Amino acid sequence: WGNDGHYIVCKIAQSRLNKAAEEIVEELLPKSAENDLGSVCSWADKIKFHYPWSRPLHYVNTPDVCNYQFERDCMDESGEQGRCVAGAVQNYTKQLLTVSSNDKSWNNLTEALLFYSHFMGDIHQPLHAGFASDKGGNTIDVHWYTRKQNLHHVWDDNIIETAQERFYNSNVDDMISAIQKNITTAWADQVQTWENCSYTDTTCANVYASEGIKAACNWAYKGVTEGSVLEDEYFLSRLPIVNLRLAQAGVRLAAILNHYFVK
Ligand code: ADE
Ligand code: ZN
Ligand code: ZN
Repeated sequence: WGNDGHYIVCKIAQSRLNKAAEEIVEELLPKSAENDLGSVCSWADKIKFHYPWSRPLHYVNTPDVCNYQFERDCMDESGEQGRCVAGAVQNYTKQLLTVSSNDKSWNNLTEALLFYSHFMGDIHQPLHAGFASDKGGNTIDVHWYTRKQNLHHVWDDNIIETAQERFYNSNVDDMISAIQKNITTAWADQVQTWENCSYTDTTCANVYASEGIKAACNWAYKGVTEGSVLEDEYFLSRLPIVNLRLAQAGVRLAAILNHYFVK
């Protein structure tokens, strides 16, 4: 996701924290964040140059198939296992688990929280679990209405940005409120099942990535070829998927922090 997508995920998550998790998040956040997880949710994108090792941790690619397998797909370009967004989610879940334990061997839990909050967002962006041959849609040039874009960018930014302009007076907080309202109404009976896959360190990240490649095939790539013009028909049919993935990311991030951050 771009800046707004990550901001939405972290705002939804922070609003769902219980007392203990809320306090621990406040302690771990840098002072400059002023207790707003949303304000640092894109930190992991800003430090890609400073921490080049973190680049492959934002996504996972399949060999152009609509299913995902950790052993086959989760590696970086040099083939090192676990170096993908699903491996990163597993790794940072483990680190956060130590917050409430006596094991203080992880030296920077602030960075762990910021990486984790960011990667939980990315793993829910359908094209962050995409095809290797097109780099998750990055090499597919399309038009977003009249503007030249690539398909990956449409899903990172344009759908969210157009939704804000069209439906929310260009106000991101109104879009967040609308998604939160859906969580307590239209999606209320699903929320429990989203949360159920939050607590086990290995399987859940793989579930999120599997959901992602399925959504990429069924919605993001569907009907799109090089040069496609994407406009209202695509925007209006895909926006519900974007809203759902943002909601799932926020709900699951909160569930994990609530589960592990106990006093
Ligand atoms: N670079 C290569 N594959 C990518 C993907 N699926 N998402 C984002 N960046 C990528
Ligand atoms: Zn992206
Ligand atoms: Zn990212």
